[in-house]
Amino acid sequence: MDVLKTLAFPPSVEHYHLLLLIGALISIVFYPYFGFLLGASFFSYRYEKKGRKEGNPLYLRLAKDLIGTALYNKTLPTFLALLPAFSIIFVYAQLLQTTDSIAVSLACSGFVLLLIALAFLYAYKYTFRLGDILEGYSDVLKKGKGSSDTILDIEHYSEDNVRSHLRFGRNGLIFILLATFFMASSIVAAADSDNWIRVSSVLDLFILPDMYVRFFQFIALAAGATGIGLLFFLFWWKKEQPLEDEYAHLVRDLSIRLIVGSLLALPALVLLGFFLLPGQSMSGTLFAVAGLGVALLFLSAQFVYAYAKEPQPHHTASALFVFAFALALFGANDQVALYNATKGQAALLSYRHDLETEDLRAKLGFVGVVLTGEDIYNGRCSACHLFDQKKIGPAYKDVIPKYAGSKEKIMAFVLNPVKMNPAFPPMPNQGLKPAEADSIVCYILRRLGTGIVKSSTPAVTQK
Ligand code: HEC
Repeated sequence: MDVLKTLAFPPSVEHYHLLLLIGALISIVFYPYFGFLLGASFFSYRYEKKGRKEGNPLYLRLAKDLIGTALYNKTLPTFLALLPAFSIIFVYAQLLQTTDSIAVSLACSGFVLLLIALAFLYAYKYTFRLGDILEGYSDVLKKGKGSSDTILDIEHYSEDNVRSHLRFGRNGLIFILLATFFMASSIVAAADSDNWIRVSSVLDLFILPDMYVRFFQFIALAAGATGIGLLFFLFWWKKEQPLEDEYAHLVRDLSIRLIVGSLLALPALVLLGFFLLPGQSMSGTLFAVAGLGVALLFLSAQFVYAYAKEPQPHHTASALFVFAFALALFGANDQVALYNATKGQAALLSYRHDLETEDLRAKLGFVGVVLTGEDIYNGRCSACHLFDQKKIGPAYKDVIPKYAGSKEKIMAFVLNPVKMNPAFPPMPNQGLKPAEADSIVCYILRRLGTGIVKSSTPAVTQK
């Protein structure tokens, strides 16, 4: 799976931003539907078992409605779950190339597990239908003049069917929970650059508190999406066929309990997630987006409350849209965190991109004039930088040591300055060629006498 990372090519800055945008768009469709699918599978299986044990046909009906709605047709899971889960693998592969992050492999595993889960859940859904048909058939035979042998046969077959039906349901549930774990962990492994190094296998994830917060966020999200989805589909979508009182009561009761639980847990979990984010992933935008998300959750709760007081179907539609929007914001927020975490990485990648372009130009015979480090310093940098004192920009002796001699990282900054220290204005891009950046950085390092010039840089001629 790491093959994917080597296949990826270094993106330019614009390309990089586009990737993050794609990631955000993907999570907008993915979160609400996946949450519903997870919750619906769980409760369908639970009510199915409970219904059989207590012989309560309403429970069985709820179990059937839940899985029937989540897997209404094949297009729904394909476009809202599989395709997004598949695309995110490529987004991560591009964003995280050249890092040690295992997020790509985790996202791949999540996708495969999701595929298996869906296969089982479909089998679960269809064996429901098969069960009904078999029962109907055996009733007809019993009433008519079917031989007792055939009836026995069918009953036998019917029992077999129930057994495999429950097995499909259980396996589907296990795989979808595993898929949730892997997908949640791929986000954790990606959104924090410390984790690129810290997490080198799945086992490392278990000691990370972020992992648990993330997982429970998914679960709380699933509970809310299931509650709101149920209300919406059974009361608004199918409003032409109103449910009988007793069943309506059961559905409403379960939904409202799920929504209340979710709305109590989600804001707390989002907040907790914040505390665990490292400084470099944090930003004002992140707070604003998450705050808006939490506000929308409460608005959605308002609609559910209105509905609980006076069951008007259109309240459920409003609740659903507002809730889906809140989830979309949380999804977009992951991308903001990822963006913050990968700023340095973006600069590095686009530096490689420039380098490759330059290489190509050189091979084609375009040779530009390359200035020496000292020329560049005197001509460009000294207007704002001195070595030992701050001017418009910081003194080199204060900022260079934090790069610990990694020439490539300094070059990446110089070629594509990003906002670093709030005490300074942003540095304007100096429009240097990679080879020029190489000379100026060597010059600075030489003059500061750090001596350590790590040359992880691909062959750039030393000037
Ligand atoms: C117009 C003014 C200006 C010019 C010209 C300029 N810089 Fe800067 N530079 C800044 C400012 C302002 C900052 C602080 C930016 C920040 O913290 O966001 C900075 C920061 C830096 C940093 C530190 C980044 C960090 O990690 O905090 C380096 C290294 C640097 N510049 C190198 C250069 C080099 C090399 C040149 C010449 C090719 C140059 N700068 C030209 C204004 C300038």
